[in-house]
Amino acid sequence: MKIAVDRVREGLEDLARFGGTPGEGVSRLVFSPADLLGRAYVKERMKGAGLNVSEDAIGNIFGTLPGTEPELAPVWTGSHIDTVLRGGRFDGMAGTIGAIEALRAIGEAGAPHRRTLTAVAYTGEEPSVFGIGCLGSRAMAGVLDLETAKAVKNEAGKSLYDTLAELGYDVDRLDAVRRKPGDVYAAIEMHIEQGPKLERSGCRLGVVTDISAPAYFNVWVEGLQSHAGGTSMADRRDAFAATAEISMVLERLVKEAKSVYATGTIGRVDVTPNALNVIPGRVHFTIDIRNTSDGSTGEILAALSEEMKRIERERGVKVRMQTINRDLPVHCEDGMQDLLAGICERRGIPFKRLISGAFHDSMFVGAFAPISMLFLPSRDGVSHCPEEWTSYEDVALGAEVLAEALLVKANE
Ligand code: GLV
Ligand code: MN
Ligand code: MN
Ligand code: MN
Repeated sequence: MKIAVDRVREGLEDLARFGGTPGEGVSRLVFSPADLLGRAYVKERMKGAGLNVSEDAIGNIFGTLPGTEPELAPVWTGSHIDTVLRGGRFDGMAGTIGAIEALRAIGEAGAPHRRTLTAVAYTGEEPSVFGIGCLGSRAMAGVLDLETAKAVKNEAGKSLYDTLAELGYDVDRLDAVRRKPGDVYAAIEMHIEQGPKLERSGCRLGVVTDISAPAYFNVWVEGLQSHAGGTSMADRRDAFAATAEISMVLERLVKEAKSVYATGTIGRVDVTPNALNVIPGRVHFTIDIRNTSDGSTGEILAALSEEMKRIERERGVKVRMQTINRDLPVHCEDGMQDLLAGICERRGIPFKRLISGAFHDSMFVGAFAPISMLFLPSRDGVSHCPEEWTSYEDVALGAEVLAEALLVKANE
């Protein structure tokens, strides 16, 4: 199966125009005007590739290539097209355009397949707008219900429910988005690595073993706002100093975690009043923990809670923590890992097996179907930035391996 590099380049460059600014990367937040244009483009490109297009109540887009036995559960492949602010043109898009091009090539070659093949563009993978990610695949897994859709809001206070309703989606039928085990035979997502391992090892493709899952939290620290000079070091109840200590504790606990892979990040800190000569009285911050083992996340959280109690006592502050979401890590099915690895070996493509530190829609698809992921090298290991880059040749090569693997699964 040959995938034309030019077609891959065209799809990615076309998409990058929606929300793209030279030097500033691509900003295509879910359901922004740029995202709506991008979504329309994806539907048109699917049609042009000979796929039948449909959309569900949360905006997941499906492009199907019917199999000879359409009553069999289909094989899915796809990713997302929304981005972070000042993101790149490959995170999500490589797997979405790659899926469309793989299915186009299969259709054009007339390659026989019993099962229907479906290219999917999942809605809103990035948590940039509503605070939680994987909106479309989360709803498919039944983890995002009507209540959650009404509860999660954007910065302006508008809920996901209202956003969808305004756009004309039949959001009250969100239940129909849900998939159960058996509905999908297998799903393969191609995605950029967003880390340096493939490039450093000279590999052109990666076979993912596990997807680490995020647990997100809001934390509020209440101290006492007071005069930076007049209040002695012994008398102060500094909410920021307490936050700084919590951040060092989190770093230690995550580094000590007994897990294949764990990370801890405090990515957002809002200090009140945020003034040079005033002791901070209040801090709000976020915690992002990623882990390939949910048990290990539980251990980190239990230890963190004990440490927070100590910090409260020692510093005279109050700490309150609220869970935003705690998702479950997923293991990529061994058989499909071996299938992807076998194709690479046969074709002489240098590859390696690796875990995914970032989360992906496949994490939620994994709740109702066997999943696997194919990674592409990220130049300099960076992503979620304008510098994010993967060669078009690597995307096309990945799409060829993807097409081969899809045909195997579709004929099982
Ligand atoms: C999403 O891109 C994430 O892993 O943060
Ligand atoms: Mn991303
Ligand atoms: Mn992504
Ligand atoms: Mn992601």
